[in-house]
Amino acid sequence: MIIPSFLIFSILVLGVKSVAVSTSAKYTSFSALGDSWASGAGPYKIDGSAGPDCARTMASYPFQLNQKFASKGSTFQFLACGGTNTTQIEEQTQSPDFGRPDFITIDGGGNDMGYVSQLVEDCILAAGLLNTTAYTALCNEFISQTSPSIESTIHTRLDNMIAAAKSVNPPVGKARHIVITGYATPYNINGNPKNCPTTFPDIPLGSGKMADKINQSVVGLNNIIKTAATNNAIAYADIDAAFQGHRLCDSGELYFQTDESVAGTALMHPTADGYMAMVSAVEKAMNW
Ligand SMILES: *[C@@H]1O[C@H](CO)[C@@H](O)[C@H](O)[C@H]1NC(C)=O
Ligand SMILES: *[C@@H]1O[C@H](CO)[C@@H](O)[C@H](O)[C@H]1NC(C)=O
Ligand SMILES: *[C@@H]1O[C@H](CO)[C@@H](O)[C@H](O)[C@H]1NC(C)=O
Repeated sequence: MIIPSFLIFSILVLGVKSVAVSTSAKYTSFSALGDSWASGAGPYKIDGSAGPDCARTMASYPFQLNQKFASKGSTFQFLACGGTNTTQIEEQTQSPDFGRPDFITIDGGGNDMGYVSQLVEDCILAAGLLNTTAYTALCNEFISQTSPSIESTIHTRLDNMIAAAKSVNPPVGKARHIVITGYATPYNINGNPKNCPTTFPDIPLGSGKMADKINQSVVGLNNIIKTAATNNAIAYADIDAAFQGHRLCDSGELYFQTDESVAGTALMHPTADGYMAMVSAVEKAMNW
């Protein structure tokens, strides 16, 4: 292929220009808010600047995103903290380290009234501890009663959390861009049981069975988060789509941590590659 010389010239000129003016910088100040899906919980090396209590890791999607898009002089404030609910994430904007960000990533809702941990305990781990009748009753109760009652109260708190992220310490002379992530549905409900993790109890697969109900519960939470994003005019990163082919019982590499025998494992949180998939989802949502 022959490249016209004028094109080569303009590529060179643009190349030099972008170094000097740095017009390609995505942000000057990036604050990462959220819970363990944002702090990057798991058996990964802890970032030296972060307390172990919050389980902030270098595998996390905000850390990886900043590795990729940091520019000269840009700052990164890593405030996401494992175990936090929407109210506590809202408080992360009050941290002295919050700064005056022009880019914010955020997630939340999964820890409100213990939502996701209860889902994992009652609908996944319980299958290995109780007989079928008792397990089915427990999980059905979570799906039909606990989950809807928690969901019914999340809307307002998500709105408050996002409102704080939008309004606290606005950047001067530039816009603030915010992207919120959801969570990933755990199961390929039509997957092969042979591909389900051996470290986990077997959950009935197939339409209308428990794996389907578990997925539906997460879809319900994501829909609430997506609606909050739309109503508040911020971007929504479709994490769930980024996990396609990598769920429990999929033949592809698993993107969920399922092996508790590995020290530091955060069950049902993304693996390092799962966090990288979240990076891609955020890039896509931001059109980067
Ligand atoms: C959030 O966490 C705080 C502190 O533990 C707690 O007081 C509050 O009730 C929690 N809110 C929800 C909705 O879970
Ligand atoms: C299942 O477990 C429950 C309580 O754990 C018990 O009451 C019930 O009899 C058990 N059912 C069967 C069929 O074993
Ligand atoms: C998980 O279940 C949801 C809810 O029924 C469904 O829409 C989705 O297709 C399922 N995902 C996979 C990969 O099976």
